[in-house]
Amino acid sequence: MKKAGVAILGLGVVGGGTYQILTEKKEYFKKTQGVDLTVECVLELNKERALSLGVEENRIASSIEEVVTNPNVDIVVEVIGGTGVAKNFVLKALMSGKTVVTSNKELFAKHWPELEEAAKKMNAGLFFEASCVGGVPIIRTLQEGMQANKIVSIKGIINGTTNYILTKMANEGSSYEEALKEAQRLGYAEFNPTADVEGFDATYKLSILSSLAFNKKICIENVYREGITGVNKEDIAYGKEMGYTLKLLGIGKDTEKGVEVRVHPTFVKNENPLASVNDSFNAVHLVGDSVGEIMLYGRGAGALPTGSAIVSDVIFAAKHDEYFYASFENNEKGNAAVKFASDFTSQYYIRLSVADKAGVLSKISGVFAKNNVSISEVKQVAEDDGSAQIIIITHICHESLVKKTLEKLKTLEEMFEVKGVIRMED
Ligand code: HSE
Repeated sequence: MKKAGVAILGLGVVGGGTYQILTEKKEYFKKTQGVDLTVECVLELNKERALSLGVEENRIASSIEEVVTNPNVDIVVEVIGGTGVAKNFVLKALMSGKTVVTSNKELFAKHWPELEEAAKKMNAGLFFEASCVGGVPIIRTLQEGMQANKIVSIKGIINGTTNYILTKMANEGSSYEEALKEAQRLGYAEFNPTADVEGFDATYKLSILSSLAFNKKICIENVYREGITGVNKEDIAYGKEMGYTLKLLGIGKDTEKGVEVRVHPTFVKNENPLASVNDSFNAVHLVGDSVGEIMLYGRGAGALPTGSAIVSDVIFAAKHDEYFYASFENNEKGNAAVKFASDFTSQYYIRLSVADKAGVLSKISGVFAKNNVSISEVKQVAEDDGSAQIIIITHICHESLVKKTLEKLKTLEEMFEVKGVIRMED
C-alpha cells in the first residue's frame, strides 16, 4: 500500500476540515483508495486551536523549516491564504521536493508560473483543485475529463458570497447593504468584503479556470472585472418581472475573434440552469465541442467542502509518482500569443428615467437605431412625479455601440438618468 505523510500549513476553517477528513477517514482511504495517509505535522501559530482539533502536541511544528526538513512529510497542504507568508512557505516546500496542495486562488492566479517552475525543477507535484469553486471538482474535470474536447465556453457562479447577497436581494427585496450585513452575520462575507463583492475572488478563479479550459495562460489583468456593489434591488425586481435572474457570472469564451474573459453582474433567463443556483452555492457550465454541455454544482466554500477538494488532491498525489503540469499555447508568463476580444457582444438590459411626455419613446428608440443597436423588448412604468422608467432589452450587439448609444441618450433633454445597465447571457 502506498503511504504518504501530510503536513498542513494553517488550521483555520479549511485546514480544520482537511485535518478532520484526513484523520477520520484514514482507514476508509486505505480500503477504498489503497493509500495510507498520515498527518505528520501541522504548522499553526494558535497552539490551542491545533490541540482542540485533536492534534498531538509533538505534531505541532514551530517553523516552516521543521516541516520541509521532515523526511516523513511528502505532501504539504497550504491553506493559509494570501500571497505573503503563503508564497514563501509554498516555494520552500517545493524547493525541498515536497508536493504542494493549495486552496490559495490568489497565490495561484498571481504566481502560477513561478510556482510551477519550482515544482518542475524539483519534480514535485503542484495541485490546486480547492482553489476554484471549493468542493466542486472543476479542475480535475477540466484536466482529466474533458481532454477530448476543445472547450468553447465556461460560465459560472464562482463566488458564493455574492450569490448569497444577490439571492437575498431577489427573494426578499433586500437592499445591497442589508443583504451584505446578513452575509457578514452568517460568516459568508468577510468583515472587509472587497475581495468578494468587487469580483476579485471570481477574477482569480476565472483566470485559473479559463487558462485550463482554453490551454492559454490568461492572466488576471486580462479579465474584465465588475463587482456587485453598484447593483440595486429595483433592477433585480424589474428583471425578475421580465423573466430574468441576476447573477455575478464568470464568463470565458474562446471565439474566432479572440478570448473573452469577464466577471460582471449578468441577467440570465429564469429557465437557464444557472438561474436556479441560489444562496451560497456555486455552479460551472461548460461547453465542449465533443460532449456538449456539462454543469457542475455544489458548495464553493466551507470546511468540509473545500477539505474534500484538498483531500482529493492529496490522494491523487499519493497515488501518482509522475506529475502533470499544465501546458499552454502561449508563453507561460503571459499572453503574448493570445488574442483577446476587445469589443465583445452581449444582450443588454438598460433602465432609463425620462420625462413622461409625448415623443420621448420615439426619440430614445431613434438613438438606438442610429447607433445600430436593435431593441428586443421595451417596458414602461409611469411614476407619480411625471417621470417614467423605460426598460429596454437589446438584441445581441457590440458593447462599444451600447456605450455610444448611452452617451448620446445622456444628451437628450428628456433624459433624467441612466439608472442601470446590465449585460445578459443566454
Ligand atoms: N469567498 C469565496 C466565496 C470562497 O464567497 O465564494 C472562497 O473562494
